[in-house]
Amino acid sequence: MTDSPVPSRLEKFSKENPWYYKDLTGHLAPISRKLLEEYSHIPPEDVDSHVYKLRDILWSQAPYPCIGEFKFLTLNLPKHPKYKHLLSLLRPSPPGPGPFMLDLGCCIAQELRSLAHAGIPSTNLFGSDVVSSYLTTSCELFNDASTFQATLVPANIFSPTLFEDSFKGWENKFTVVHAGLFLHLFNHEQQIAVCERVVKLMKAEKGSMFLGEMVGCRGGGYRGPKQTDFWAKGGERKQFLHDEESFAKLWGDVAEVTGTKGQWKVESTFRERAPGEGDADGESKGRAFFTGEGIGWIKFSVERI
Ligand SMILES: C[S@@+](CC[C@H](N)C(=O)[O-])C[C@H]1O[C@@H](n2cnc3c(N)ncnc32)[C@H](O)[C@@H]1O
Repeated sequence: MTDSPVPSRLEKFSKENPWYYKDLTGHLAPISRKLLEEYSHIPPEDVDSHVYKLRDILWSQAPYPCIGEFKFLTLNLPKHPKYKHLLSLLRPSPPGPGPFMLDLGCCIAQELRSLAHAGIPSTNLFGSDVVSSYLTTSCELFNDASTFQATLVPANIFSPTLFEDSFKGWENKFTVVHAGLFLHLFNHEQQIAVCERVVKLMKAEKGSMFLGEMVGCRGGGYRGPKQTDFWAKGGERKQFLHDEESFAKLWGDVAEVTGTKGQWKVESTFRERAPGEGDADGESKGRAFFTGEGIGWIKFSVERI
């Protein structure tokens, strides 16, 4: 018996959960609001009601805290230290298609919409998430079913047949792989498994890059409340959080198992959260999902050299 019983379906979807915010005030960053107005052409006066309506649809599909807390519209990539470099990597180099980018665990693919709005051809953008309805609903959210030509593929990153079905033909394809708020969902062993797949997905060329951001912790290790792993039929989820040192070590292990030692430049910055700050990069306050000393935020990049 655990002291964190697996919630029933009803409890999981309950709007009384503390991570189902009733009020959007302070939780939609100006850059996200601008994207909905300028890219999705939603009249400014309709943005709030549109977000509430679509949040409830996404919540009914899979009630992740990031949905309840409106974080699904947060744009972290434009604040990443490698963002300008990323844009230069993705600049089309005719003739032919590409360079390509994949957003792993993309949820509603808000980062891909933001890149499309910044001028990156959406045909070069790919996203994947285990919740397929997030991907389909995202076109309603962004009002871009007829214009967004990215490839959005439902897949569980741990599927043993990943490269034979959902990711078929994707080996050695991507100049950029992004993982936002993704790696920290998993234990250490699973993180290595995810990163092995990332190495397989990345172009085996100098300059290709894996980057992202996630909740971290000083010293690296297992942190957070006991939670239900909605996606693994219940049970306690062990989530390994990183700082700069533990992330470099993780990638050292990945290089070892993929036979790519010495081929990577690993950079990261960890920032401990300020008192009262939630599990985000300083933008929206609110409830902190992770508890304990030394919790913060880590941004990372891993470049093939
Ligand atoms: C915390 S959200 C982050 C979403 C988005 N990347 C962002 O930065 O806003 C984690 C996402 O990972 C997806 N996910 C969780 N486990 C997964 C798995 N095994 N394979 C693929 N996607 C998964 C979830 O459905 C969810 O959309």
